[in-house]
Amino acid sequence: MREPLGELIGKIPRPTDPASRALGEMPYGLYILGSTGDGEANGMMADWVMQVSFSPRLIAVAIESDARTLANIRASQAFTLNLLPADEMALAAKFAQPYYGSKIKGRAGAAATEVHHKLEEASYRLGTTGCPILTNTLAWLECTVDAIVPVGDHSLVVGRVLDGAVLRDAEPLTTLVTGWPYSG
Ligand SMILES: Cc1cc2nc3c(=O)[nH]c(=O)nc-3n(C[C@H](O)[C@H](O)[C@H](O)COP(=O)(O)O)c2cc1C
Repeated sequence: MREPLGELIGKIPRPTDPASRALGEMPYGLYILGSTGDGEANGMMADWVMQVSFSPRLIAVAIESDARTLANIRASQAFTLNLLPADEMALAAKFAQPYYGSKIKGRAGAAATEVHHKLEEASYRLGTTGCPILTNTLAWLECTVDAIVPVGDHSLVVGRVLDGAVLRDAEPLTTLVTGWPYSG
């Protein structure tokens, strides 16, 4: 069931040292992180996500420092997490692009100034925090920010779960299904 995501994910640099390859064997869920900034909802592909506390219910997501999503979350102090079902790989692929085209190394000219309004191609509603919940998601969580901790080249965003629901009885989309690399 593995499919290439095309040009973009194929271009992600893949270190080949042994520790990097070991990290590449770690399985992850494939999520769309929802945020809103300057009145516009945005979705970001993310797999570095986990629950980190039962009481209170907290989850953590590691986000690149220059992601539009991180700026949105800092400003609004809220986000949503959409857990996709395994049969929505094409929907997931719509979120492979960054909001700012300039975020992709090597992009120049018009491609660098391009902005990707990724949610224009997806059906969603806004949750109580104003962040997007995808219609075709398997399950969703809505969170407020508990902490943002700088960790190396990412920031760890800890979210307090306000609400959530399971919308479908389906297998979740994971890196075991997609084969899309983001680790190493
Ligand atoms: C399979 C896959 C998983 C990813 N997981 C993460 C992640 O966990 N954290 C992260 O910061 N970026 C991750 N990315 C990269 C972001 O999707 C990318 O930085 C994107 O530019 C951020 O979107 P935004 O600019 O709209 O905020 C992943 C990319 C792919 C292809």
